Amino acid sequence: MKRDPRLNPLSWQHQRTLALAHRTVAALDKVSVPLETVTVDIDMLWRQEIEPHFHAEETILFPPAQRLGLCQDAIEQVLREHQRLHELFRLIEHGGALTDLHCHLREFAELLIQHIRFEERTVFPALEKVLPEEQLEAIGRDLSAFHEQTRPGTIP
Ligand SMILES: [Fe+2]
Repeated sequence: MKRDPRLNPLSWQHQRTLALAHRTVAALDKVSVPLETVTVDIDMLWRQEIEPHFHAEETILFPPAQRLGLCQDAIEQVLREHQRLHELFRLIEHGGALTDLHCHLREFAELLIQHIRFEERTVFPALEKVLPEEQLEAIGRDLSAFHEQTRPGTIP
């Protein structure tokens, strides 16, 4: 299904994050880059893109639907997953025993893959369908402004 162009800034970030999540799984399965490279990349992408992306969804994309009482269960699931991904990032950041690190990295990567698929296949299409046109316009404007402020190379 084609994405509403107003949600594209979030979908482009999904693609970059998904690629990193797949590289993480491959590294854990020892079929590609070393794990240290992947953890450095996770740290960088988390700060530059993933955390701001969660913030944009939570403050720009979801509130209009929440105010109208739309897609409540799906949004609650997304918010719970954001919370778990935050927890897992903190655990990865603090390192610890190698077996724990592997365990946290695998849960982090697999949850990210499932989370992005859920948003792209279920949540975004549902929001595009139920949100009034003027709300989608406002969301599109705010997402573009947010994206400009937070894209790599700019200081928020
Ligand atoms: Fe997302």
